[in-house]
Amino acid sequence: MTDITRRTIDTARGPMTWLEAGAGWPLVLLHAFPLTAEMWRPQLERVPADWRFMAPELSSAVPASGERTIDDYAADVGALLDALKVDEAVIGGLSMGGYIAFALFRRSPELFSGMILADTRPQADSPQGRDGRAKMRELVAREGVGAIADQMLPRLLSKQTMAERPELVRRVREIIESNSPRGVDAALDAMMTRPDSTPDLPRMSCATLVIVGEEDAVTPPTEADAMHQAIERSVLVPLAGAAHLSSLEQPDAFSRAIADFLLSHI
Ligand code: MLT
Repeated sequence: MTDITRRTIDTARGPMTWLEAGAGWPLVLLHAFPLTAEMWRPQLERVPADWRFMAPELSSAVPASGERTIDDYAADVGALLDALKVDEAVIGGLSMGGYIAFALFRRSPELFSGMILADTRPQADSPQGRDGRAKMRELVAREGVGAIADQMLPRLLSKQTMAERPELVRRVREIIESNSPRGVDAALDAMMTRPDSTPDLPRMSCATLVIVGEEDAVTPPTEADAMHQAIERSVLVPLAGAAHLSSLEQPDAFSRAIADFLLSHI
């Protein structure tokens, strides 16, 4: 099995930690909320030959207090790539990771040799969505990260996974609960104030892979299809037997979609 290493480097925005596997052309995977880079282990284990997969810990450079924007996370990822002297990479993310990929594209489109948008959406939060985030911020302050895991797990995983794959449910809970309350609060702050990325889609000229779990109720297949229609050089891969965390629920099919995309389009 491929070796996965956890590394840390000083960047212009503070120390950044990331998981890494393989060697060769760089590909960056940005994790979902409220998870960590650990969610990408199945993809790092299946890194194709001649590729170097890197999964930043998006909370590693978050200051202990203060407001947080989606642009801050994008700047952190940009600073990591700068520190690693990577000036071009395939960059992608799942859900919140996708929101950050959109923000990084607005800052530094030249960094993108390709893009992966998994179980994500370009729109900003609705007023109702923002209210929900505010309630979650209260919940994490009051009851801690375990309460966030209780609320999120049934939204992230399919009904079948929740009922029949206790090991995976346990692993996702463990990843969620490894976050600090501050890390969760900062991500909620950033997501609830993020701008609409829809106007950027027609400007995305790099090859783009859009992946979506067929049972994803958070960022549903209809939205993935709309993104695919709006991004000229995109391919759409729906994954059966997966909801929102399609990379964890269908790791083989998800990794195969990435490998096929890299082979045919990059
Ligand atoms: C995620 O998976 O990153 C979150 O569910 C995204 C969101 O809440 O908008």
